[in-house]
Formats: sequence, structure tokens, C-alpha cells
Amino acid sequence: MEKGIDLAQTNFQKYFDSFSGLSDEQNNNFLIKYEHSLRVAKLCADIAQSLRLSEDEQEMAYLAGVFHDIGRFRQLIKFNTFDDSQSVDHADYSIQVINENDLLSECPEGEKNKILLAIQYHNKHELPKDVVDKELLYARILRDADKLDILHVITDYYTNPKAVPNHTLTWEMPKGGVVSSEVASQIMAGKLVSKTDVASQIDIKIMQLSWVYDINFKPSFEIMMKRRYMEKIYSTLSKSDIVIEIYRKVKVFAENKILA
Ligand SMILES: [Fe+2]
Repeated sequence: MEKGIDLAQTNFQKYFDSFSGLSDEQNNNFLIKYEHSLRVAKLCADIAQSLRLSEDEQEMAYLAGVFHDIGRFRQLIKFNTFDDSQSVDHADYSIQVINENDLLSECPEGEKNKILLAIQYHNKHELPKDVVDKELLYARILRDADKLDILHVITDYYTNPKAVPNHTLTWEMPKGGVVSSEVASQIMAGKLVSKTDVASQIDIKIMQLSWVYDINFKPSFEIMMKRRYMEKIYSTLSKSDIVIEIYRKVKVFAENKILA
């Protein structure tokens, strides 16, 4: 397995190094995506291992992780933004980059398709309904890993009072005073909060709490609880009745997933 992972890391590094003459700001943004990709890849492999998948499958999960955001680099150079709505769908862009650079040429064809499917759907609201379950294995792992890493980054940011506001994390939204009613009713109904209903930084945090409903595997819940991500988000919210109710609901949901 190591050999395939080494090759993927080398290919990832080579592609990353092929960009030159970047400004300090571009360099900084490149580094954020570079490190995120490697952490997500490692999480994918860890989840796959906890699920007792074969070594080959662990390796394929790693590949999905390491290349899932590879389109981000070209997106930033070409459009000067990571905002997909102002530029391109970065998942589609990643697939384009993978194909152009032959980054998955060593994979068996069937596995390659599963990895591409995982990358294509890592940023969508939900997985496609017309694809059979076993084709979506890496897609489920990648969605969990990506969320866990975003939770790692944002809880670091939320709990560090010295942190410089990072617009990719706050979406340049107003701070907000209360949870929007549409957002509150979605999470209380056990639904993933839709990005389009988010209107403030408080709503963003509630949306992030609602990710518990979109985590697929027990090992992912275990990582989430062990690293106290939900608790850390909650600790940064002012405690209204609805906030307390929401937190209780997602916490019980996550705890039950671990006991199950
Ligand atoms: Fe992404």
C-alpha cells in the first residue's frame, strides 16, 4: 500500500510545485489547501482502516482525499477566489485537473471511477440517489474526512481569540444576533442546514453543528467526539433557549451513533 500512497504524494507535490511566481497572499492560500488536502487524505485512510477495509481500499480512500481539492489551485490563479458561485465548481475543476495530468493512471478502472465520483460529490448537498451503494464508498469516506478537517480548522479559529478573521471561514457574513428561524427549524427536524438559508456567522455555526446528520461512519463520529468539535462550536455561541435545544439534539444524536 505504501508505494501507491508515496506515488500519490509525489504526484500531488509535483503538481503543487508546478505553480511559480505566486504573490504572498496566493502562497498563503495555496498552503492552506495543500495542508488541508494532506490532512483529509490521512483521515480518509484512517477511517478506511477503522472500517477494516483492505489495504488497497485504504489506499484508494487516500487518493480520493489527496486529490479532492486539486482544482483549487487553478481556480485561485484563474479567478482569484475560492468562491465557486463566482467562478467554477471546484470539484468539477479537480476532476479536470486529474484527467489532464493523468493523476489516477495507476488505479484500476473501476476504482478510478469510484474515486472520481467521490471527488465530484464531496462538495454537493447530498450524494446522488441513482448510484448503487457500493460505488459510493469513497464518496462517503471523503465527505466525512473533509467535514472533520473543516471542523478542526474552524474550531481552532473559533476558540483562538487572537485569530485574524479569515474570510474563507466566515464567508464575510454579518455576525448576527439570533439563529435564523429557517436554519433552526431545519436542524431541529434532523436535517442538514442548507447553505442557501445561512444568513449570519451564527447560522454558519448552526449549519456546522447540523453536519452530524451527514456523517456516515461510526469511526468518524468517534473522531468528532474525541476532538470535541461540537462542544467547541457550542462554547462560542451565546446560550439562548433555541441554541441550548439545538446542541442537546445534535449531541444526543452523535452519542447514539457511537453507542450503536
Ligand atoms: Fe473541496
